[in-house]
Amino acid sequence: MLKWFIISCCLLTAISYSTYYLFTSNSWIKTVKTHTYSRFYQLIKENTKTQLDRLQEEAKLSGKSLIPPFINFDREYAIAPKYNISICRIKKSMSTLMSGVACVLYDTGKFMRNNRSILEVWSHRFCGEKNEYRRMNEVKWRMGDAHHTFKKIVVIRDPIARFISFFSNKCIFEAQKYPDRKQCYNCQGNVTCFLEKQYERFVQHSSDYSRIRPSYEDKHAAPLSWNCEFGKFLKDYKIIKLAVDPKDRKNGLANLMNVLKESNVPNSTLRFIEKSALEGETMHATYDSDAHDVVKKEIENDKKIREWLKRIYYLDFVIFDFDTTFINS
Ligand SMILES: *[C@@H]1O[C@H](CO)[C@@H](O)[C@H](O)[C@H]1NC(C)=O
Ligand SMILES: *[C@@H]1O[C@H](CO)[C@@H](O)[C@H](O)[C@H]1NC(C)=O
Ligand SMILES: *[C@@H]1O[C@H](CO)[C@@H](O)[C@H](O)[C@H]1NC(C)=O
Ligand SMILES: *[C@@H]1O[C@H](CO)[C@@H](O)[C@H](O)[C@H]1NC(C)=O
Repeated sequence: MLKWFIISCCLLTAISYSTYYLFTSNSWIKTVKTHTYSRFYQLIKENTKTQLDRLQEEAKLSGKSLIPPFINFDREYAIAPKYNISICRIKKSMSTLMSGVACVLYDTGKFMRNNRSILEVWSHRFCGEKNEYRRMNEVKWRMGDAHHTFKKIVVIRDPIARFISFFSNKCIFEAQKYPDRKQCYNCQGNVTCFLEKQYERFVQHSSDYSRIRPSYEDKHAAPLSWNCEFGKFLKDYKIIKLAVDPKDRKNGLANLMNVLKESNVPNSTLRFIEKSALEGETMHATYDSDAHDVVKKEIENDKKIREWLKRIYYLDFVIFDFDTTFINS
């Protein structure tokens, strides 16, 4: 009788211990769950989200709220189903070259027979609407059999370098050429004036009740994370980063070439793309470079301008892992 009593006691203790252990320490549950990839990515995303939220809280406390990330604002896709590729273009981020690349890959033979150039001005480009879509769902549908496996490519560049290029081109060069358009909110090349107005517009666009229509300036200056449906698809993208220094552009180009090579694009086509891209580089180098240098100097010398830039682009730096030394200075 005593023997049975002792055995029962031991069993009960064992059972309650293990139950207690299971319910209080759920670390084993976590381990199991992370083995499914979607959960794993979800966790990474939650970490990133927590990090972004924390940065936003800090910024708010100092009275300088950041523009929120991942607003679904602008999308431009061009596809090359033959190579299972879709390219998302971000304005002022080699977008002309990238639409040229998508066009060559879409129908290489026709492109070559017509003696077209990869760097044709956007409005005259050869493929036009033939391979271009505005929503990822449509891109998926057009990819046919590859709708689960196609590669999403995007080229991004340092947000400040992109802003300088945008501002010197659209707010100085074009604004002077077409004064009637009052482009860039009629700021006459004043960077601070532009950023104050643009910041307010981005705040409005990121509210759920936004009534304003996206302007030409909004689309060119929008944070990187507002493009390409990154809120949903960031982890699926092959991200090609351009170096800040145009002299290092060749590296960015080499990355692009590698990604295309992985997609079985033939050598001759790769060489054609590379040659055109480098020619375009020298073409651009001389074009509005004076304004470019002036804007760059202004940003370097004016902390207030850097603060505005930080409010708009800081989370881009974090999300896409760019060097924050300058923007924090
Ligand atoms: C192709 O275009 C280039 C310049 O754009 C021109 O020099 C060349 O003669 C053209 N070739 C043909 C075959 O049309
Ligand atoms: C594109 O994807 C389809 C379906 O997944 C596959 O059969 C085909 O081989 C792929 N083509 C290339 C060039 O990778
Ligand atoms: C530029 O704009 C800012 C803000 O609108 C203004 O305070 C400043 O005086 C302007 N600078 C010049 C040189 O006009
Ligand atoms: C393409 O170039 C690579 C090296 O750059 C070479 O190994 C490969 O054989 C070439 N392919 C063809 C089809 O010429």
